[in-house]
Amino acid sequence: MGLLFLGLWQRMVDSKSKNETKKSAVVPLAGLTGVNFFEEFIVIKKDDQFEVLSSKCTHLGCRIDQQSQDKLMCPCHGSSYKLNGQVVTGPAIKPLPQLAYQINTDQQTLTVEL
Ligand code: FES
Repeated sequence: MGLLFLGLWQRMVDSKSKNETKKSAVVPLAGLTGVNFFEEFIVIKKDDQFEVLSSKCTHLGCRIDQQSQDKLMCPCHGSSYKLNGQVVTGPAIKPLPQLAYQINTDQQTLTVEL
């Protein structure tokens, strides 16, 4: 019986720890135009719509920080992605993950969940 409680308690603690380690980043809306590269994410603004993608290349994890025409370019091995995260050229085969975000109109900020 004691082991059952210990197991349940450990699950609750693990669950709480995961929630507490959630990270987010806040950027001002005013500076966002076109393709905007940040350390862990990319914000694409087009026609007042936002797309937020992970900047971590799905091949081996290099940071994507370059754009060529309408493509996001990985500097390491040449993978490229469309602005919606879909792969154009490999070696990457998986799309860039889309990240959840919220817009705070009062503070004029965009918060990205990392
Ligand atoms: S890490 Fe991006 S192409 Fe290899």
